[in-house]
Amino acid sequence: MCHDFGEMHTDPHILDQSHQITADERRFVHAHPLTGYLLLKDLKGFPPSAAKAVLQHHERLDGSGYPHGLRGEQVDKLARIVAAADVTEAVLRRLDPMRGKPRRSRRGQERGRRSRPFY
Ligand SMILES: [Fe+2]
Repeated sequence: MCHDFGEMHTDPHILDQSHQITADERRFVHAHPLTGYLLLKDLKGFPPSAAKAVLQHHERLDGSGYPHGLRGEQVDKLARIVAAADVTEAVLRRLDPMRGKPRRSRRGQERGRRSRPFY
């Protein structure tokens, strides 16, 4: 999925899960759906419905989401599906801290030793 495509314009330090985010930094995080949408919406062959899902994937039915605070039926169905997948992935990552790390690093951790690059 490319729903977090806009995060490539966000300081990786801010996105680090161990970092305590500040209110100012949160503004940058909240911009990533719009950034992703702007990058993808005119991409040849990229479905407009998918670009809209990228824009709305942090909107919530109760209006508590971002970037626009949409409510209920204002949130596109595809965006709801992407949001559910996004939350599911986040929960799974919390249960398995090695999930999403490079395979080489993960393998070393699972064997209880430090990973070493093989170059
Ligand atoms: Fe996101």
